[in-house]
Order: sequence, then C-alpha cells, then structure tokens
Amino acid sequence: MNNFDFKNPTKIIFGKDTIEKVKEEIPADAKVLLLYGGGSIKKNGIYDQVKTALVDIDVTEFGGIPANPEYAKLMEALKVIKDESITYLLAVGGGSVIDGTKFLSAAAVYDGDTPWDILTKNIRTEKGMPFGTVLTLPATGSEMNSGAVITREETKEKLAMGGPGLFPEFSILDPQVITSIPERQLANGLTDAFTHVLEQYMTYPIGALLQDRFAESILQTLIEVAPTVLKDPTDYKAASNFMWSCTMALNGLIQKGVPTDWAVHAIGHELTALFGIDHARTLAVIAPSHYKFNFESKKEKLAQYGERVWNITEGSTDDKAYAAIEKTVAFFHKLGIDTKLSDYTKDYEGTAEKISERFTNRGWTGLGEHQSLSPDKVEEIVKMAY
Ligand code: NZQ
Ligand code: ZN
Repeated sequence: MNNFDFKNPTKIIFGKDTIEKVKEEIPADAKVLLLYGGGSIKKNGIYDQVKTALVDIDVTEFGGIPANPEYAKLMEALKVIKDESITYLLAVGGGSVIDGTKFLSAAAVYDGDTPWDILTKNIRTEKGMPFGTVLTLPATGSEMNSGAVITREETKEKLAMGGPGLFPEFSILDPQVITSIPERQLANGLTDAFTHVLEQYMTYPIGALLQDRFAESILQTLIEVAPTVLKDPTDYKAASNFMWSCTMALNGLIQKGVPTDWAVHAIGHELTALFGIDHARTLAVIAPSHYKFNFESKKEKLAQYGERVWNITEGSTDDKAYAAIEKTVAFFHKLGIDTKLSDYTKDYEGTAEKISERFTNRGWTGLGEHQSLSPDKVEEIVKMAY
C-alpha cells in the first residue's frame, strides 16, 4: 500500500426528512446565495423545504445553472455575490449545481482578473467562500469532495479544478429526493458512480486489501440496487443505498494508498464538451475501449473484479479479465446506456484526432496510473469507441 494523507472535513447529514436541518448549519448572520439549476427543485418540493427552513436567514437566489455548469452563467452569479456582499453559498442540486458553486466559492476569493484562469492554470483553492449543499441527485460525489468540472460553451472546453478549500462544509443527503429524478438521470448516476470506483480500482495490485474490498463492495451494492432504483425510486432501501454508494465512490476514501487512473474521465469530458453527451454516458463509451487497449497492464485487477464482483470463476486470468469487460458493458446496456460514440452522434469521424491534439496542446502527454497514455494512444482508444 502506498503512503497517504487523508482529510475529509465535510459533515454529512443523511436520511429521511433531513433537509430542514439546513438551518442548523448556516451561520444566522450569513448573507446566503441559494444556487440551483433548471427548476426541478421548484416542482418536487425541495425548494419549498429549503426556503421554509431558511425563513429567518437572509437569502438571495440564483437559478438557471445548466447541466455541465457553464462559465458564462456562473460569471453572472459571481456578479450577484459581489453586488449583494454574499458571505455563504448554498447549492441545491446535482453535480452541476454543486460544481458551479465550488467554482464560485473559488472565484469569490480569487484576486486575478480572469476567473477562467483558475481552470486553465490549475490554481488550487486553499480557502474559498464557505458553502454547503443539499444534494438532489446521487451520482458525482461532488457533495463530499473538493473537485469541480466547469464547461465553457464559447470554446467547447470542460476543465477540472479543485483544492482543499473546496470541500462543502456540510451536505444534506435525503434519499427521498430521488423519487422525482427521470429514469435517464438515475441510470446516469449509477453509471457515473460505478465508473468512479473503476477509475480508482482498475489499475494494478498494490497490496491495498481493504481499499480493494471497499471498492468492490460499492460496485456490488450499485449492481444490487440498480434494478430497483430504476423501477421504483420510491423504494427507500434501494434509494438510500444508491445515494450513499455514490457519495462513498468519490469522497476520497477508496483512492487512498492506491494508484488511480482517471483517463476515462479525462477523455469522456472531451466528448461532453464536443457533443454535449451526458457525462456518465461518455464514460460508458470510453471505459470498455480503455480497458481493452490497456488489457496487459490492467488484467490482474480486471480478473479480480471479474471474480469478486461478477462471480466469474472459469478460465485463465486473461479469460476472466476479458469476461469482466463484457459484463461491464452488459451492465451499462441493462441500465439503458449505449456504449459506442456512434450511438450518440453521426459526426464522430475525426473526434479521436481532435482529442489527441487537444491533449498535446495542454501538455497532457501521460495519462493513467503509469502516466503512459500518450495522445496517440488516447487517439486509438477513442477510435476503438466509435
Ligand atoms: O437543472 P435541474 O432542474 O436541477 O435538473 C437536473 C438536470 O436536468 C436534474 N435533476 C437533479 N436533481 C433532480 C433532477 N430532476 C428531478 N428531480 C431531482 N431530484 O437532473 C439533470 C442533471 O443534473 P446534473 O447536476 O447535471 O447531474 P449530475 O449530478 O450527474 O452532474 C453532472 C456534472 O457533474 C460533473 C460532470 O462532469 C457534470 O458536469 N462531475 C463532477 C464531479 C465532481 N465534482 O467530483 C465528478 C464527476 O465525474 C463529474 O465529472
Ligand atoms: Zn464522473
């Protein structure tokens, strides 16, 4: 096992009817900016629950943050923060609203001229404006980590940012919120969380027995609850296990002491930036090709995953590893998630070259757990995913 430091300061408030506890977490004298997305919270009652809880607190609102939070829109919110002397941010939404809020937390204290530099120059935020979240969509783990991904339509870019100052102070996780989520987004959430675990697991053995078991148990739980989550999101047992699995998949715990990959995400983000494909679906497109392309260096973990998660007992290490990739693809298909780029766009020709060129220009010349995936290899992987 590798050496590691681990600190996660986010307070999690989990369970039924917990949204009203938001009032206990925000300082009474705060000037709050409540941030939300396209308005789903106004239809499903979450907005009312939050507003009722915050009746004694000074709250300004900013809605309309789109899926794949858009820089231009966030810059409007930044103006509100400055104009209204906001002191505390509250994200009520899924990964997009939470990520947008993290960007604002960083931008609010950033003293450069162009907040986009936070993304392009990899500026880590040591201390941002304090914020909390009310999670409405289990998927990204953003509610308990310090990363964010921001999109800029103007340049068709989607870039990551983060820093130790960008953990939410608290996150409220009421699994009942999933009852209003459309099936397509539930499938996205399951796929995103599943792939988060794979990114931190599908590398090479390093003797981290407990981390492997944590990772496998999250995968097993997602597989177990997926059919019920999709069929009946009012099933609280399934909903609560789904929600906690998504948070645990990307709150930092399972990546401690182990090598991590994240190439699937790096490539997938380009597909969202170029074609607007839902984040989770880009992962289902890239992961199978990535694992096939890097089969030799990943096959031991692929086989272990096949044995422990999919109960594949027959054959050699190679056989089990290959069967595990097939099982993963079948799982995505069962969720209703297509796994080829051509399923999403007719204009896929040239995508591989474009992504490889972008990575070269950004100096991303060695992705993956061995820092060995050069842009020409990325190009091959994307072509395999057509
Ligand atoms: O905009 P609203 O009205 O809120 O509707 C949203 C949106 O249309 C809807 N929704 C959310 N909660 C709902 C609901 N509809 C009904 N009932 C509810 N309770 O669902 C749609 C998608 O929401 P979004 O927040 O975009 O989804 P998700 O949570 O999957 O977030 C995706 C974003 O997170 C980034 C992705 O790149 C993408 O931009 N990621 C962030 C990560 C992180 N910070 O750690 C890691 C991930 O790998 C990912 O990259
Ligand atoms: Zn993801």
